Amino acid sequence: MPENETTAPSLENLLHETRAFPPSSAFAAQANAQPSMYEDAAADRLGFWATQARDLVTWSTPFTQTLDWSGAPVARWFADGKLNAAYNAVDRHVEAGLGDRVALHFEGEPGDTRTVTYADLQREVSRAANALESLGVRTGDRVVIYLPMLVESVVAMLACARIGAPHSVVFGGFSADALRSRIADAEAKVVITADGGYRRGAPSALKPAVDEALAPKEGAPATTVEHVLVVRRTGQDVDWTEGRDVWWHDAVDGASEVHEPVQVEAEHPLFILYTSGTTGKPKGILHTTGGYLTQAAYTHKYVFDLKPESDVYWCTADIGWVTGHSYVVYGPLANGATQVLYEGTPDTPHRGRWWELVEKYKVSILYTAPTAIRTCMKWGEDVPAGFDLSSLRVLGSVGEPINPEAWMWYRRVIGGDTAPIVDTWWQTETGAIMISPLPGVTATKPGSAQVALPGIVADVVDDEAHSVPDGGGGYLVLSEPWPAMLRGIWGDLQRFKDTYWSRFEGLYFAGDGAKKDEDGDIWLLGRVDDVMNVSGHRLSTTEIESALVSHDVVAEAAVVGAADDTTGQAVVAFVILRGEHADRATTPEGAEEVQAELRNHVAVQIGPIAKPRRILVVPELPKTRSGKIMRRLLRDVAENRTVGDATTLADSSVMDLISAGLKKPSSNED
Ligand code: WTA
Repeated sequence: MPENETTAPSLENLLHETRAFPPSSAFAAQANAQPSMYEDAAADRLGFWATQARDLVTWSTPFTQTLDWSGAPVARWFADGKLNAAYNAVDRHVEAGLGDRVALHFEGEPGDTRTVTYADLQREVSRAANALESLGVRTGDRVVIYLPMLVESVVAMLACARIGAPHSVVFGGFSADALRSRIADAEAKVVITADGGYRRGAPSALKPAVDEALAPKEGAPATTVEHVLVVRRTGQDVDWTEGRDVWWHDAVDGASEVHEPVQVEAEHPLFILYTSGTTGKPKGILHTTGGYLTQAAYTHKYVFDLKPESDVYWCTADIGWVTGHSYVVYGPLANGATQVLYEGTPDTPHRGRWWELVEKYKVSILYTAPTAIRTCMKWGEDVPAGFDLSSLRVLGSVGEPINPEAWMWYRRVIGGDTAPIVDTWWQTETGAIMISPLPGVTATKPGSAQVALPGIVADVVDDEAHSVPDGGGGYLVLSEPWPAMLRGIWGDLQRFKDTYWSRFEGLYFAGDGAKKDEDGDIWLLGRVDDVMNVSGHRLSTTEIESALVSHDVVAEAAVVGAADDTTGQAVVAFVILRGEHADRATTPEGAEEVQAELRNHVAVQIGPIAKPRRILVVPELPKTRSGKIMRRLLRDVAENRTVGDATTLADSSVMDLISAGLKKPSSNED
């Protein structure tokens, strides 16, 4: 039956029985993915990956070995092969006669546009690589990129890859302090930034954060950064450090457009990307070249059913996150895709901006996060109804569990009840998609990421590492190494082993809870560790707690992620004030002032994205006899639930005290 003839079930039915949407025969007949891929990969997993690597990637020196797992848990994939990721993303398409194909339809928030073909991209990336080399960047040197969503951001990443200089992109929403610690950890030689970018209708500054991050600070080591390359985007005034700062247009525009890409070994580092873990210190997740590129290209081709000659693809993620790395830069460009690159927010200048872009560029594949979908649901379906979305044929979701209601809305309102939805589970650490339906093959189910991709082996296990039966719940693990897996945490091999490989012997522990339904399909249930997921962004409870206690007025702090209808989770902080400041919070005005001060402080320490939604001043925190904070009980309070079993508390009256104190209305919510 063609897919558009299946009628959408009511939500009520959906919650009672798991209804699947089989692919239409028309879609299946044209699909890149075939059911036989699962069998092929199961029969010869390494052979399957070797085929992908040869089919989808161009090697300057072909590899002869597929996987070396003797150094587990550090894998080596395709290790005796050589390649260049930027050559694969750009030059080879030009050499194949596709230089005139559009690589990027850039759309600035103010409405300025720029069309970049693969030939343009080759020239730009080559110029930028030459400019970086003239600033002293060599193969192996680290470059930090702190930019908005601009053509230059993609060019900068590829220019680094062209030289074999690992990049470390830091999301523009992180503060100067967060930037400083990432630059220091990576020991970066160059930082690439912009004067600012456009956000919500106004220019916002970026360069001042770089200046601050590089300024000498007591107790901090001298910076390793020799140059700052600055893109002019908004034209706002910037402070200038002579000798250190260089304008992008001065260094890049006049540079030669010929540059020989450096062919690196497959295991050469491609990038470091910092992400939150369960401790306060962000982890520099290390990815290398050959395996990463193979899986990025493979997943992009099959999960999105990309037809590079006819599709227009758009992934709304920022390049500051892993989704931007794998599904804006490396995957789509390796596959020669034409894509939209949008600088701004979905509601500027109006709430239909995204749908306007879909109509304008005839976007056929859209990849976004459940938070964005839920936000659009809130704005109402008459907004997307005002635009022609009929070009859309595949819809993707990533970053957090998608609830069946949002899934159904996405399918019906955005996908015209025909476009298959791929709910893709993966992580910064996995480098590329791991669990997802394959359009044209899988009968999709609202709310479930379903099955591991061909070549990937995932399972749900109990506390003793036993695979749970269908219908059971437990922890998501990955049982076999995969090409795009992280190769470690930058500079901290032990932490890599402890974090991912010590919970269950021989299995990668993802940190996510999951269940298998009666069909054996996997449903992701959210983090089981102290990592929160707010709007699809990973935040660490401990990191925000450390930020709070670094403020003078705070004696102790506990942070939890409370369920939120739109953002998935919201940051809620409980703080005990220091004795001499405790009085300040006794009046509503005083409490509000303290709360505002603390929210600001978190923004300075980590970035605006980490600001707590609510801060509750409390007299005590619930702790076990061994002094561990019982976040479960605080989550009950934050979610307005009856507080659960508190018998293991050292002092069981604490919860009464907290609850009593909170009966007073709090006015510090956004
Ligand atoms: C969550 C983003 C449910 C999960 C690519 C994971 C998901 C964390 C999904 C990684 C999904 C990602 N369904 N949960 N489809 N995709 N997650 O490193 O908790 O920013 O561990 O990578 O996001 O977040 P990260």
